[in-house]
Amino acid sequence: MKLSKTEIEAIQHEMTLYEDPGAATIEALKIVQEHRGWVSDESLEAAAAVVGVTPTQMEAVATFYNLIFRQPVGRHVIMICDSISCYLTGYEEILAYLKKTLGIEFGQTTPDNRFTLLPICCLGNCDNGPAMRINTDYHGRLTPDKVDAILAEYP
Ligand code: FES
Repeated sequence: MKLSKTEIEAIQHEMTLYEDPGAATIEALKIVQEHRGWVSDESLEAAAAVVGVTPTQMEAVATFYNLIFRQPVGRHVIMICDSISCYLTGYEEILAYLKKTLGIEFGQTTPDNRFTLLPICCLGNCDNGPAMRINTDYHGRLTPDKVDAILAEYP
């Protein structure tokens, strides 16, 4: 899958910002993901060619950052924090509620392609646990009722 002109130009712009163009690797992955929702093998190889690194080098970066999705995801990605503060403030109840409400397990996407559910380490929102992130939005002090209201914001 070839990258679009817009993607290529955006990556090339990022490369101008670094002394070593290879340092734009993570930005290149983010650009691809912004445009496609996830980073396929073909897209990764195309982005590597633009940046001038090997696909293996690009893959190493992609797998290191857990916010780069290497499999298709739903329209909205729910990342629930499973670190200590959230664990102590109700993570298990909220996770069980999310799984029951959405009918999916970690790593799965709802059949209507609306939500993907993933675990994540501390979101830096520890004083508002239990916390989750949906796409780029942060939500905290979750209760089942609050989860219902929040999910409704993501059609
Ligand atoms: S422990 Fe959950 S946001 Fe920090």
